[in-house]
Amino acid sequence: MSETVATPKTDRNPQPPPTRERTGDIFDKAYAFTRADEAAAVGMHPYFKPIAEQHGGTVVVEGREMIITGSNDYLGLTQDPRLKAAARGALDNFGTSCTGSRFLTGTLTLHEALEDRLAEFLRTESALTFSAGFLGSLAVLSAIAGRHDIFYFDRENHACLYDGARLSYGTLRKYEHNNLDELEDLLARDAGKPGGRMIVTDGVFSMTGHIAKLPGIVALARKYGARVVVDDAHATGVLGMGGRGTAEHFGLENEVDLVLGTFSKSFASVGGFVAGPRMVVNFIKHRARPFIYTAALPAMQMAAALEALEIMDAEPEHREKLWRNVAQLRGGMNRLGFDTLGSETPIVPVMTGDDDLTMAFWRGLWDDGVFTTPALPPSVPTGHAIIRTSVNANHTPEQLDRLLESFGRVGQQLGVI
Ligand SMILES: Cc1ncc(COP(=O)(O)O)c(C=O)c1O
Repeated sequence: MSETVATPKTDRNPQPPPTRERTGDIFDKAYAFTRADEAAAVGMHPYFKPIAEQHGGTVVVEGREMIITGSNDYLGLTQDPRLKAAARGALDNFGTSCTGSRFLTGTLTLHEALEDRLAEFLRTESALTFSAGFLGSLAVLSAIAGRHDIFYFDRENHACLYDGARLSYGTLRKYEHNNLDELEDLLARDAGKPGGRMIVTDGVFSMTGHIAKLPGIVALARKYGARVVVDDAHATGVLGMGGRGTAEHFGLENEVDLVLGTFSKSFASVGGFVAGPRMVVNFIKHRARPFIYTAALPAMQMAAALEALEIMDAEPEHREKLWRNVAQLRGGMNRLGFDTLGSETPIVPVMTGDDDLTMAFWRGLWDDGVFTTPALPPSVPTGHAIIRTSVNANHTPEQLDRLLESFGRVGQQLGVI
C-alpha cells in the first residue's frame, strides 16, 4: 500500500513530496513555531482566553468571575440595552449580512445614515465606513499615496497604519515616538522633492496611552505643506468635551485633514470609518481596494454604532465616569510605585520591562482573579514589556480597588515595586 493511501483522511498535515528543486517547505516556519504550545502546556499563555460571559467590569473565564482590564469598551456601552435593541431591530429589517460590496449590492440606507451622522458629529463634510478599522487604514493610506508621495509616521503608530503604507506606492519615513524635532528634520530633508506629504499619527497611542503632540504636528504640517491624518481609534468618545477626539481636545478640529476611527472601542460595535473633505472621501470610495473588494459592514453592527454615537453625543456622563475611573486607576498605580510611562488616557500601561517577569506578573494576577493582557515585543520595544491595563466607564470603584490591591500584592512579590 502506498503512503498516501495509508494516511488517514483526517490527517491535515501532509508533507510535500521531495523534489529535486525543493529548497525548503514553506510550512517549515510554522512547524518550527512551538513557543506558544510550550507556554500553554505550562499555563503561561495569556492570549486567546475564551470569555463565557461579559458583565461590564467583570467576565466569566474558565468558570471563574474575573475583573477585566485591558478591553476597549471605554464608555461601557457593550451591554447597554439601547444598543442591543437597535442591533436587533436592524437584524429584523435587513437580515444577517449584506453579502456584497458597498460598490455593488451592499450599500444599505443605514450605511448612508451612519456616515451622515458621523460627519455631522465630527464636523467634517463627509464620512465613509469600512468593515473594520484595520481595513479603513489599509483603504485610506493605500488609495491616497502615489509613487512620489511620502508618509511621516510616529514610530509607535498602530500596525494597520504601517500595513496601509506598505500597500501603497508611497514612501514611509519614521520619527521617534512624539519626537517632533526628528519629524521636522525629515520634512526639511525632503523639501523640494516631488510628491505630496502626509503626517500620520495615532491620536492616543494604544500601548503607552500617550496623546499625540498635535499642535506641533499641525504647525509642522503647515510649514512644510503636509496633510495630517489622525487615527483616533482610542480617542473618539474619550477625548474632548464633546467626545470628538484628539483634534477637539486641542481645539484643532479645522486643522486635521482626515480622521480615522473604529467602532470596536467606544462605539461598542465593529467596523471603521474615515471622516474628511467630501472630494477626498469620494476618491477613497471609488479607488480603495480594501473598501471595494470586501463585503459591506452588516446592519446590526451599524445600528449599534449609530446608537452609541447618539449616546456619546447626548450623555456626557459616561465620559465623565470614565475619567473618574482613569484618575482612580492611574493615581492608584502611581501611588503603589508602578511606572505608568506618563500615560494621559484610559490606557494605563504598567511597566515590567523583562518578558519573563511580565509573564510571571500576568500569571500572578490571573491566579488572583484579574484578567490582564501583557504586551511583549514586537508590540512594544525590546526590554519595554508592559501589562496593558485600561479602564472603562462601567468599572465600579470597588472593582478598581480590588484590581489595585492585586497589582500591589503581585508587584511586591515579584519585586516590580
Ligand atoms: C490605533 C488603532 N487603530 C486601528 C485599530 C483597528 O481597529 P479595528 O478593531 O476596528 O480593526 C486599532 C485596534 O486595535 C487601534 O488600536
